[in-house]
Amino acid sequence: MKKVLITGGAGFIGSHVVRLMVKKYPDFQIFNLDSLTYAGNLANLADIENQPNYHFIKADILDMEVINGLFEKHDFDVVLHLAAESHVDRSITNPLDFIYTNVVGTVNLLNAARKFWQRPFEGKLFFHISTDEVYGSLGQEGLFTETTAYDPRSPYSASKASSDHFVRAYHHTYGLPIVISNCSNNYGPNQFPEKLIPLFINNIIHMKPLPVYGKGENVRDWLYVEDHARAIDLIMQKGKNGETYNIGGHNEWKNIDLIRLMCKIMDKKLGREPGISESLITYVKDRAGHDLRYAIDASKLQSELGWKPSLQFEEGLEKTVDWYLNNNDWLEHVTSGQYQNYYREQYEKR
Ligand code: NAD
Ligand code: TYD
Repeated sequence: MKKVLITGGAGFIGSHVVRLMVKKYPDFQIFNLDSLTYAGNLANLADIENQPNYHFIKADILDMEVINGLFEKHDFDVVLHLAAESHVDRSITNPLDFIYTNVVGTVNLLNAARKFWQRPFEGKLFFHISTDEVYGSLGQEGLFTETTAYDPRSPYSASKASSDHFVRAYHHTYGLPIVISNCSNNYGPNQFPEKLIPLFINNIIHMKPLPVYGKGENVRDWLYVEDHARAIDLIMQKGKNGETYNIGGHNEWKNIDLIRLMCKIMDKKLGREPGISESLITYVKDRAGHDLRYAIDASKLQSELGWKPSLQFEEGLEKTVDWYLNNNDWLEHVTSGQYQNYYREQYEKR
């Protein structure tokens, strides 16, 4: 029996990790700690919320007193730390939020682990979930490996890089057992429609313009969210203390090619004439400091722990589109209210 604390479990990736853990480990107690920002949504977990091994705690990782109290009370064995501000465009508008949650929030959790976990930390693990964006931007060639030097270039990636450094520093300085994973772009059900794929799906449904930044030539390496959750589970079980694991889909797409594929799939699903969705493509002002290309070498995870992605991208994208079309209430709910202000501020000035 283990007690697993998952932070940010009401968000996109966190909710898939929580579901996997709750279903796969009926003997574990799974605690989902989330402050429910705009990105957190308990509806993501409606199907498992009544499971006896699942517990939700509404709390902010910036609230040191509450965090300390929880560590003291529950004596968690494992922390899977996903809570974060996660959207690059928001980090460009408001960097401080990212420093607070991503850096200070992470250090709060590290401090609680260090304070309440018994030395020599037998059976304990602090697993920090991070991003490939800490490595910076690639040219046309090459892949990020675990030894690529950090070169974050957006406030988001700078805050994640900083949190990664703190996690390693706590390992080296205090002997805290840690692992870090750096994953490429995720896609799939429950992703908030501020990120490329769900934002475009929502706009296509409503026949709204599809705002392609710059020339649409930036490249991302896309991974289906459940494959990421499986990798996290595997690293939690078998990852070596102090190590870093890159996770990626071997699946690079130029934005414009991905968008055209998405338009084709959506025309078919919505019974529209071929080409209707593509006609919504609108080139807009580029993102400031827009990283050209991310691509992950995930061979360490494959050779050492035996992980590889399970889904082909076209299949994953169709599943994702189907999910959004079948969950219109979810989409309507998260795109009402504040989202409309966000959308106006981000896109109407462009
Ligand atoms: P998300 O924005 O969908 O969810 C973040 C969750 O954290 C939300 O539920 C939110 O309520 C919660 N949260 C935010 N601030 C909090 C705070 N101060 N206290 C407690 N909870 C708080 O993010 P996501 O896309 O699911 O990403 C999860 C993690 O994975 C992040 O650490 C992110 O950096 C990392 N990651 C994301 C991707 C991606 O493509 N989305 C890729 C690699 C790594
Ligand atoms: P995003 O989903 O924000 O992820 P990240 O920037 O963390 O990789 O964006 C993915 C790519 O899509 C990125 O190159 C920026 C681009 N993009 C657009 O062209 N238009 C948009 O409206 C958004 C949100 C992203």
